[in-house]
Amino acid sequence: MKKPNDFSISNLIIRFAKPEDKEFVLAFTEKTWEWGDYIKHVWDEWLHDESGKLFVAEYEGKPIGIMHAAFLPDKSVWLEGLRIHPDYRRKGVAYNLNKFVIDYLKEAGYKTFRVAIMSWNIPSIKLARKLSFYEVSRWVSLETSLSKLVNNETPQLCRKEVHLDMDTLWDMVYNSSIYDASRGLLLYDWKWLNFTKNALKELSNKYSTQILIRNDDLLAIFRPTPGKYQLISFVNAKTMRDLRSIATFFSKFEKRPLSTTIEFAFPKNYPHLEKLVDKELFEVEEIVIMEFKYL
Ligand SMILES: CC(C)(COP(=O)(O)OP(=O)(O)OC[C@H]1O[C@@H](n2cnc3c(N)ncnc32)[C@H](O)[C@@H]1OP(=O)(O)O)[C@@H](O)C(=O)NCCC(=O)NCCS
Repeated sequence: MKKPNDFSISNLIIRFAKPEDKEFVLAFTEKTWEWGDYIKHVWDEWLHDESGKLFVAEYEGKPIGIMHAAFLPDKSVWLEGLRIHPDYRRKGVAYNLNKFVIDYLKEAGYKTFRVAIMSWNIPSIKLARKLSFYEVSRWVSLETSLSKLVNNETPQLCRKEVHLDMDTLWDMVYNSSIYDASRGLLLYDWKWLNFTKNALKELSNKYSTQILIRNDDLLAIFRPTPGKYQLISFVNAKTMRDLRSIATFFSKFEKRPLSTTIEFAFPKNYPHLEKLVDKELFEVEEIVIMEFKYL
């Protein structure tokens, strides 16, 4: 491979990923952040994704950049997992990879593209702006371990499958203050899409989706995830006691280990958020949702 100094963007090839790219990609994404990267956990799934495509930027026969595009039930494209080899950054690779993918999928009929970026990731936010994406929403995630939230109360919660009664559920969703604050966006599996009854239904038919109810009130919607991590992406919680109740439910009734990481995500303008952001208890992150639309 030539040294990055000799790099010429005109020799960049954008193509679908191939199984033989894996080794090289996992090597250059091993230390994307100080904690590592999640690409190794999703590579095989993304490579064979029937509702998405995994793209690679190739230079001199080697992959030096990747990005996954997922096709969501609202007909939008979710762009994720953008990674450029550290030796090839600031040379226009990410810009060209994004441009290619967006133009390619536009030809296939897609008009709306969305991406989530951590608020501290200025390079990525600037890149998105350069690609004409604009901010549509901000979210806050609160992450901790079950052990820090579980208490001795017996949570008065019951769990149900979402698809049992979609009409009743949708009424509950529609009348909740969290739906109001979410500006029409549903977070599911770390992807944001238009929050409609149909989208919720489609996702729930595809994956097992569950709800937590308390006194006929909707408290949370989540997709149970195996292993020691659980995202609760629709949390109609008003007090810290509500969050403790959810955590206690997972520990006592679902028998999830106390070391399980639980992450709650809220729209930043959610009126009850201030009472929930306890920086002693949670790792707090802000997430910017950006969108690009062809009219
Ligand atoms: C963010 C990342 C994808 C950018 O890739 P890249 O190939 O270096 O980006 P490009 O060279 O195409 O830059 C395009 C634009 O992005 C912005 N940008 C990229 N890197 C930047 C940096 N370090 N500082 C400020 N702006 C930056 C600039 O606006 C740049 O345009 P300019 O060169 O005209 O100023 C790359 O740094 C990376 O892989 N980072 C780690 C993983 C990551 O953050 N992924 C995105 C998760 S949402």
